[in-house]
Amino acid sequence: MTDLTVYLTRDDIVRGLRSDVLTGLTATPKTLPPKWFYDARGSELFEAITRLAEYYPTRAEREVLADRADEIAALTGAHTLVELGSGSSEKTHLLLDALRRGRTLREIVALDVSDAALESSVALLREEYAPAVVHGVVGDFTQHLALLPGGAPRMVVFLGGTIGNLVPAERAKFLSALRDNLQTGEWLLLGTDLVKDPRTLVEAYDDASGVTAEFNRNVLHVLNRELDADFDVPAFEHVGHWDETEEWIEMRLRATRAMDVHLRGVDLTVSFAAGEEMRTEVSSKFRPVRVANELAEAGFTLSKWWTDRAGRFGVSLSQATT
Ligand code: SAH
Ligand code: AVI
Repeated sequence: MTDLTVYLTRDDIVRGLRSDVLTGLTATPKTLPPKWFYDARGSELFEAITRLAEYYPTRAEREVLADRADEIAALTGAHTLVELGSGSSEKTHLLLDALRRGRTLREIVALDVSDAALESSVALLREEYAPAVVHGVVGDFTQHLALLPGGAPRMVVFLGGTIGNLVPAERAKFLSALRDNLQTGEWLLLGTDLVKDPRTLVEAYDDASGVTAEFNRNVLHVLNRELDADFDVPAFEHVGHWDETEEWIEMRLRATRAMDVHLRGVDLTVSFAAGEEMRTEVSSKFRPVRVANELAEAGFTLSKWWTDRAGRFGVSLSQATT
C-alpha cells in the first residue's frame, strides 16, 4: 500500500456522489460531473484513451513538455512541483527530470480524486525521485487548494486539458482560488486543448475502437456500485458532440429505449425517454486569447505560451501576480 494523505475520505466521496447525482439526475437535461468517471477502471480507461491514434492531446502536450522542460525548470527554479489531477503523472516525469537536472527539486505533490491512480503513480515517483519528498494527496482540486503541502517556490502543473472539463464559471472560481492559495511569484503551468477542425475533435472523443464509449459508460457502473443503482449500461449509447457556440466537446449518454432507473442508495427513481441524452462531460477547446484573459482575470501574468508543432495543444506558463 502506498502512503497517501487523504483529504477526501471514502465517506466524503460517497456523500459528494450522492449530492451530485441528486442534483444532476433531477435536472433537465440530466447531467453528471466528469470527476465520477475515475474509479480504478475509469483511470485505466483514460490511460487507454491517451494511447489511441485519434486522441492527439496527450501526445501533443508531451511534445511541448519534452521540448520546453529545461526552459521551464530554469525560469521557475521551482523547489516544489504540485500536480493537480495528476493521474499517472506520466508526462510530468519530463518536468521532474528537468528540475532535477537544474538541482532545484525538493518536493513533489500529486493530487487526484482517484486513489487508484495515485497508488501506482506515487510509488513510481518515490522510487524515481528520492531524496525528493513525494506527497500523494487524495483530494479535489475544486476544494482542497488551501491544504496543499510543499515549500516555495512552487510550480502548480495542471495538464492534459483537464481545466477544460470545468465550465467557464467553475474555471473562473478554480483559477481565483488557486491564485489566492499561491504566493506572489509562484507559477502555474497549464495545458489547454485548442479549437480546431470539428472532425479531428469529434474523432478524438468518439474513437473507432470504442474505448471512449466504454470510459463514458463507466460512470454508470460507478453509480450502480456506489449507489446500488440498476442502470442497464449497454442500453446507453456514447455521443461525442461538438458544440460550436460553446466551443466544447460534450460527451453524452443516450438512452436507446425508455426506462426507469432505480438508485436505491439515494432513494431515487429516474425515467429516461427513448433517445434522451444525459451530459457526462464538457471538454472545452480554447483560443490563445481566451487562455490569456482567463489567467489575467484570476491574477496570473502570462510569461510563456507554447504549442506543439502542429498547433493542436497549448501550454502556458504564468506567474501569480495581483
Ligand atoms: N493529468 C493527467 C490525467 C488527466 S485525466 C494527464 O494529463 O494525462 C484527469 C485526472 O483528473 C484524473 O486522474 C481524475 O481522477 C482527476 N480529476 C478529475 N476531477 C478531479 C477533481 N475535481 N479533483 C481532483 N482530481 C480530479
Ligand atoms: C481529462 N480530460 C482532459 C479528458 C478530455 O479530453 O477532456 C477526458 C476525456 N474525455 C474523453 N476522452 C478523454
